[in-house]
Amino acid sequence: MHLILSILLLFINDICADESFISNDEYAKMLYKNPRGIGCDKCHGEHGEGKEISSYISGNNKISLIGPRINNLSIKKFRKALEKGKRLMPEYFLTDVEKVYLYYYLTKQKKKGAEFAKNNKK
Ligand code: HEC
Repeated sequence: MHLILSILLLFINDICADESFISNDEYAKMLYKNPRGIGCDKCHGEHGEGKEISSYISGNNKISLIGPRINNLSIKKFRKALEKGKRLMPEYFLTDVEKVYLYYYLTKQKKKGAEFAKNNKK
């Protein structure tokens, strides 16, 4: 299954390249920002570079709630994270093809938003 999806990812640019109403790039971006639920960008940043969702002060410490960087993961790890329940992240009901599109979008975004990602390395 994993292999099939990886191959699909390689060819996704060619699939319906001419006939599609919106381009694959546009569709992937739309899905990232509006995945039938709160947009991924709200917590992971415009380019998947990671983002501070919120912060509060506890005593003398500032506690930050961080949406982690997600544009540098393997497709396996990416899919897995979307399948099992997370602590803070909402649950989505995405199809495999939608996950591949999201992964495709984020891979292309990898170079963007580098500043935040650099300052918030895990
Ligand atoms: C409400 C904020 C929020 C939204 C919206 C959200 N996430 Fe997350 N996500 C998180 C947080 C926080 C984590 C870290 C694990 C946790 O605490 O749940 C995470 C973890 C992940 C991980 C695993 C990262 C790793 O290093 O293992 C992936 C992949 C991911 N999210 C993808 C997405 C995608 C794709 C979307 C949109 C469909 C999305 N997230 C929407 C907050 C969010």
